[in-house]
Amino acid sequence: MIITPLTNKKELESLQDYFAKLTNRPYEFLTQLNPPTLTGYLRAGMADQLAFGSRILVAHTECGPCGLLAWTGLPFDTSLFEVNVAKLVHISAIGSWEERISVLEALLACASENWHKESISLVYAKVKIEQVDTLHVLRKHAFDTVAGWINYGIWVDNWEPGNFASSVAMRPSRPDDLTVLEGLSAGSFSLDRFHTDPRISPTRADQMHAYWIRNSINGSACDAVLVAEDDSGRPVGFLTYNLRDEEPEHLGDLRIASVILNAVDPKCRRQGIYSQMLSMVLLECQGQVDFLQVETQTNNTPVQRCWCNLGLRPVESGLNLHWWSEDGKAEEES
Ligand SMILES: CC(C)(COP(=O)(O)OP(=O)(O)OC[C@H]1O[C@@H](n2cnc3c(N)ncnc32)[C@H](O)[C@@H]1OP(=O)(O)O)[C@@H](O)C(=O)NCCC(=O)NCCS
Repeated sequence: MIITPLTNKKELESLQDYFAKLTNRPYEFLTQLNPPTLTGYLRAGMADQLAFGSRILVAHTECGPCGLLAWTGLPFDTSLFEVNVAKLVHISAIGSWEERISVLEALLACASENWHKESISLVYAKVKIEQVDTLHVLRKHAFDTVAGWINYGIWVDNWEPGNFASSVAMRPSRPDDLTVLEGLSAGSFSLDRFHTDPRISPTRADQMHAYWIRNSINGSACDAVLVAEDDSGRPVGFLTYNLRDEEPEHLGDLRIASVILNAVDPKCRRQGIYSQMLSMVLLECQGQVDFLQVETQTNNTPVQRCWCNLGLRPVESGLNLHWWSEDGKAEEES
């Protein structure tokens, strides 16, 4: 087996048969997607990765490509954590279990060499639970499980809003919401993979969420931010979302929206505020979007109960893993 970097779009054509043979495919829960559409989606995704400057490694035998790995540096996370951060954006192999394990191991060994050369200290991986081969190899390569993720979704067309005892005022975010929303975001999360990674301090993990909402309000992390406000106009909840999360032409014209980051002020919870915010987004989606998806940690039961009440259903789940280089220092817990 040899491993070569893939550096131009033309070479992607040689992966056509490889993509068709992959059994683990994105959006499997959207049963409408036929095999050619899924293959086209994977090819387009890799072309985007190339355009973004991601590194792509292809494993070959004399029979053709048998494995693929892509990773990319994350400038935002790098500046926040003050160490070089990257994420695995794709890892797959074809063949028998033994063949897949040996291909995945070789790809990861090659990627690890690159991470060492480029002084990368932290690498994220997000893997579906059924990718047992990948999980097996990542664990062997010192990736630690830090959280479980679960994705819910709903076809929005026939969705109908419920009745709420009282209605909350909602509006798009404004730049002057920044301070309140940063505080709300920094103080709202504890189950996410940053807070559960023992090598990341709680303060840094809180900061990550403050930066995230800041980048959401300025439009660099999402398309839109919906805010719920109290009688004085003060924000008491937020929900960030993308009305167009994927290029529809890559997904058989399916239009997919995503809800990304959401929280309600602890003093105002269990009053239906979040349910009303999500209902408003679902109504906005109708006519513009086919499917809305949203993700959380497997153990975040409050938000999952809320989604179930609104008619969303679980569609896929998996694990988040973090790899730290040996010299990646644990931070002081505050
Ligand atoms: C999840 C969260 C946004 C819900 O906001 P909220 O405004 O309190 O939600 P709602 O009042 O609309 O709740 C609707 C339903 O969700 C479920 N729910 C909400 N909070 C719950 C809790 N703490 N425990 C169990 N169920 C809960 C209930 O079924 C509730 O209906 P009910 O009160 O009639 O039983 C809020 O708890 C929060 O900010 N949590 C921290 C951040 C977070 O986890 N965000 C989601 C990450 S994706």
